Amino acid sequence: KNSSDIRIVACGTAMHAGLFGKYITEKLARRPCECELATEFRYKNPIVGKDDAVIVISQAGETADSLAALRLAKEKGAFTLGIVNVAASSIAREADNVIYTRAGPEIAVASTKAFTVQATVMTLLSVAIALESGKIDAETAKRITSELTYELPEAIKIISGDDGHIKKIAAAIAKSENAFFIGRGIDRYAAEEGSLKLKEISYIHSEAYAAGELKHGTLSLIGDGVPVIASACDRALYEKTKAGLSEAKARGAMTVFVSPADICTEKDGDFVIALPCISEYIAAISAVTAYQLLAYHTAVMRKTDVDMPKNLAKSVTVE
Ligand code: AGP
Repeated sequence: KNSSDIRIVACGTAMHAGLFGKYITEKLARRPCECELATEFRYKNPIVGKDDAVIVISQAGETADSLAALRLAKEKGAFTLGIVNVAASSIAREADNVIYTRAGPEIAVASTKAFTVQATVMTLLSVAIALESGKIDAETAKRITSELTYELPEAIKIISGDDGHIKKIAAAIAKSENAFFIGRGIDRYAAEEGSLKLKEISYIHSEAYAAGELKHGTLSLIGDGVPVIASACDRALYEKTKAGLSEAKARGAMTVFVSPADICTEKDGDFVIALPCISEYIAAISAVTAYQLLAYHTAVMRKTDVDMPKNLAKSVTVE
């Protein structure tokens, strides 16, 4: 609450969970919140000082770049908070304070349940900062907290239970060599994580794009059958995102639309994933659950090693 700057620093999927924290802190606490890659932060002589807070997110708590970023932030006098899954790991021990995600041991290289809890913790932290700063009332804080505690697990159960539909979508994209995940606002950050999951385990080249940016260049890559996957969990941006997806459709794309069940219709895409939740915060995290399942089924169909994708390690403890 009292820090002048809040900075979130992480790598890969953890950084995408940080982007959820950035978005929700700015939206609810009405204060700027930078989220950046530890691999960049550690070499840019960051403008961080004793009045700032630096939040480092890491599943393993041993990622070399994230640990180096933590140490640099501490050297500069900032308050450091670790959001960590592995107890007593280096980042957990060296940060001034730590919130354990308690997601249980995550064995596969691709981070899935850790992301879900990291994004949930970042949402809770953003809500707490907003409440402490007097920007939201206790009722709002309670509502979002109970959505995360009760609605989100339910939504994840329903989505995971209905993966026959997601398997069909996987079959439709399994032969593609390129894919695009698009979204606006919080959906842009869900797209980042969906894209990373697909490429890291199915080896399909995938890009995440701000939905409004397609027409500024990337649309030239959209042709017959290219999968374009959009989520619109923020109701205020539903129509806009739908319009962006139809631009891709008009150029031959195979479209997938992911949105809360009460606002989306079958006509919104070649395939539609209707999310069983209302609030954008819960919907965006559960959209990533759908993306995780999509990546999994696509990888299985492409016979890649889902648990140990080539060239990757579970924890990148060296540069
Ligand atoms: C994500 O699926 C990858 N396993 C990778 O991006 C990972 O999130 C990143 O290396 C950060 O790891 P950490 O959370 O353990 O620091």
